[in-house]
Amino acid sequence: MDPEPSHQLAAWLAGGQITASVWVLISLVLLMVVAGLLVLSVILWRQLLSTQGRLWKEWSARAEVERALSDKEQRLQTIFESQLECVKLHDANGTILTMNQAGIARLGARCAAQVVGTSVYSFIAPEHHERYQTLSASVFQGNSDSMEFRLCCAAGNQRLFETHVVPMRDSSGTILAALALTRDITDRRNAEERAQRHLSDLARVARITSMGEMASGLAHELNQPLAAIVNYASAALRVMRTSPEKMASAIDSLEAITEEGQRAGQIIRNVRDLVSRTEPTKAPVDVNEIVRMMVLLAKPEAARHGVAIRMQLGAGTGVVHASKIELEQVVFNLLRNAVEAMGYPESIGQPAVIISTRRTPVGSVEVEVEDCGPGIADDDIDQVFDPFFTTKVDGMGMGLSISRSIIEAHDGRLYVRPNADKGVTFGFTLPQSEVRLAA
Ligand SMILES: Nc1ncnc2c1ncn2[C@@H]1O[C@H](COP(=O)(O)OP(=O)(O)OP(=O)(O)O)[C@@H](O)[C@H]1O
Ligand SMILES: [Mg+2]
Repeated sequence: MDPEPSHQLAAWLAGGQITASVWVLISLVLLMVVAGLLVLSVILWRQLLSTQGRLWKEWSARAEVERALSDKEQRLQTIFESQLECVKLHDANGTILTMNQAGIARLGARCAAQVVGTSVYSFIAPEHHERYQTLSASVFQGNSDSMEFRLCCAAGNQRLFETHVVPMRDSSGTILAALALTRDITDRRNAEERAQRHLSDLARVARITSMGEMASGLAHELNQPLAAIVNYASAALRVMRTSPEKMASAIDSLEAITEEGQRAGQIIRNVRDLVSRTEPTKAPVDVNEIVRMMVLLAKPEAARHGVAIRMQLGAGTGVVHASKIELEQVVFNLLRNAVEAMGYPESIGQPAVIISTRRTPVGSVEVEVEDCGPGIADDDIDQVFDPFFTTKVDGMGMGLSISRSIIEAHDGRLYVRPNADKGVTFGFTLPQSEVRLAA
């Protein structure tokens, strides 16, 4: 017998000796192999499907991000281009990296290519270069800064601009460029200057109106030194004619004439200054001196109303940096209002206006005018500073409005408060000047 099993199987097959149960076994094995292959392909197919699904999701998420980024960029570009003011980016040397259409047009260029790569300093007027360099250096250190400068524009004319510059950073915080938003403020500034000129014209008209009312008082005020001059001159002449040896007494009279003449001249100069068209210029001024001079001018008119003016001037009240003529106008307006209020028949008691000056604990200079007139009705107190608000038959209603503008232009505050018993107190504070008064 052949011992080799393969030979035995071959012999069985050849000899038809294989049994049915062997066939069943073989079929079962084949079936299991086919079923295994089927399961394997199902598993592989599902694996493939899930990988494909994941890849699809990732791809659509990326597409979504890209679309969002592109939308965002488009939005930023629209914002950038839709600005009516000039928006630009420049590097630390001032080289322009990009600029919107409004800026390009403002500079008279036709396209971005004509501007990108040039220096901001070729447009900014030379006198502002140093300040802009300081601003730019500060922005590249992480600060925001603003300044005004003149730019050479398309038509060759210079216009005034205001620019606000901030650092532009990347996602890691590194500063890539300076982002500047620059707007043309020429028209606004011209309008402000025109309004200021109107106000000063109005203030001048108000001063002249006041002067008209003061005229009679002034005549009285000037009468005193002029009468004194005449008296002293007559005395000097008499002495020189009758007793030439009494020269010393004549010299005394002549000195008194000179003094009184100077006083009269000072009153006239002051009146001329008040109505002059000269632009108000700021300089260190002594507040007590202004009060003394205005009381001198207001006293005759007050006397006609039967009102006394008393001064309580704080020693060393100090000096403020101000336009003398404008401060005089404010003090005069407050005095005139107080006198007019006390001239009302309702005012009772000993009519006196008290004008006082002092240095406040925070170092400002304060001037107050206190009256004991009828006071101001609660409904009116918020309106007294409004232009053209008046309760007087012949009032313009501009005195307090002009006064408040003047005080605010000096960084000060004008206020009113009712007195405890009767009348009101108007007052203002001004920052004290660091500068001393010229000798
Ligand atoms: N000391 C005061 N006492 C009572 N009322 C006052 C006093 N000062 C001002 N007022 C009120 O405030 C109003 C406005 O004052 P303002 O000085 O602005 O104008 P006006 O005196 O009426 O006219 P003008 O422009 O000629 O000065 C006055 O009409 C008056 O009603
Ligand atoms: Mg008035």
